Amino acid sequence: MSNTFIIKGLDGERKLHGTVKITGAKNAALKAIASTVLFRDTVTLTNIPEINDTLRMFELLKDMGADVVNEKKGTYAVSISDGFATELSPGIAKRMRASIVLTGPVLARYGRVSFPHPGGCLIGARPLDLFVGGFEEMGARVLIKDDSYVVEAKNGLTGAEIFLKMQSVTATETFMMAGVLAKGTTTIKNAAMEPEIADLAEFLNKCGAKISGAGTPTITIKGGKLLTGKGHPHKTMPDRIEAGSFLILGALAARELHITNCNPAHLESLIQTLESAGVGIETKKTEIIVRAPAHLKSVDIKTHEYPGFPTDLQAPMTVLLTQAEGESTVFETIFEGRLNYTESLVAMGANITMMDPHRVLVRGKSELKGRKLESPDLRAGLAFVIAAVIAKGESVIHNVDTTIDRGYEDVESRLRAIGVDIERAQKVAEVTPALTLE
Ligand code: EPZ
Repeated sequence: MSNTFIIKGLDGERKLHGTVKITGAKNAALKAIASTVLFRDTVTLTNIPEINDTLRMFELLKDMGADVVNEKKGTYAVSISDGFATELSPGIAKRMRASIVLTGPVLARYGRVSFPHPGGCLIGARPLDLFVGGFEEMGARVLIKDDSYVVEAKNGLTGAEIFLKMQSVTATETFMMAGVLAKGTTTIKNAAMEPEIADLAEFLNKCGAKISGAGTPTITIKGGKLLTGKGHPHKTMPDRIEAGSFLILGALAARELHITNCNPAHLESLIQTLESAGVGIETKKTEIIVRAPAHLKSVDIKTHEYPGFPTDLQAPMTVLLTQAEGESTVFETIFEGRLNYTESLVAMGANITMMDPHRVLVRGKSELKGRKLESPDLRAGLAFVIAAVIAKGESVIHNVDTTIDRGYEDVESRLRAIGVDIERAQKVAEVTPALTLE
């Protein structure tokens, strides 16, 4: 059985209206969950989005011996007890790239970790060379056999200077967490600067870690003892990608949409791009208000590490560009294969030409027609939902449970509340389920 969304399109009408409340950020929650391995006592995490990926991360921890109590919706208390295993379950970790961030805390605390090569491969080969190199710099020995990794540091990790040749988000987080329990000082250079990294550092610092520079390209971590969660419940920051996706939907189809519980400061690049496309946007401290303009103007986008245009918003933005007058180019610089979904937009009626695997040319404005779509991954999946909402006629989006449900909590109820005609149906799979990505 596979879950599908059936969406009746608005046929270009701009009539969505109301409020969308943003949930906790998937890519912050996953790291906070992994960081519980650095604690000697119970840690309480709140505002955790109830999505497949966070549930899977808790499963992974439970499988290793953690005690996870779901106190109420979005609130989890996690304790790591004696006998915690150092092997990440291949069954779970293989399906989730984010599982890699657990390796840092497990190795730092127990001197050993083993794991499979994680995650799917639809957005490129996604190597682990940065992780292997960094662990070796910290004094660990890495054995790779087939697609399994065993990393050992019998006498514990030693602080080191790690230069990341790419500004990798999860590598930065992994070494930041590993450094918390390493001997001496760890310095991460050319570190990624995504807000989720600064948020994680702030949380760990409240609990006893000594991390400085998170959110800049150089992060310094002074190693120390296990952290304490007592008196420091951690609230997950708002999901900037979810907020950005609703902002794009609003820019296309809303009479007036209020996006609440978000942090507009994390979306500067998107907001500026939408403003250049002619969208009127009002921001408050934790809210964004958007109204779809009568005409959208073409605009070029190039994905970039934070604070540049996020790769995770590239697909929804491309949908918007199909409705803009003129030619726009989309340049994906972070991942390979992350423009393949545009074929399906072409099948819906978009005029998109693939220039090379990293660049497409979008000519607008095109009328999109409802189609049967196979969601290739989480972010392109939501882009298809947006395309289906503005299209003429009905669209059926397959593989919702293995893609969209990984990252968006109860998205159909929230869409319905603002006027989208969307239903979830369970169908015998007609299509091969997509590989899961992280
Ligand atoms: C994180 O992935 C996010 N995932 C991704 O979100 C996001 O798209 C990405 O950062 C970029 O913002 C999580 O936080 C769980 P990277 P990550 O390592 O850390 C190359 C979503 O939909 N690289 O920053 O895995 C890599 O191939 C997802 O929520 C190496 O070469 O991405 C890429 O070109 C998808 N060697 C670049 O670095 C390595 O060892 C940046 O990737 C590791 C990465």
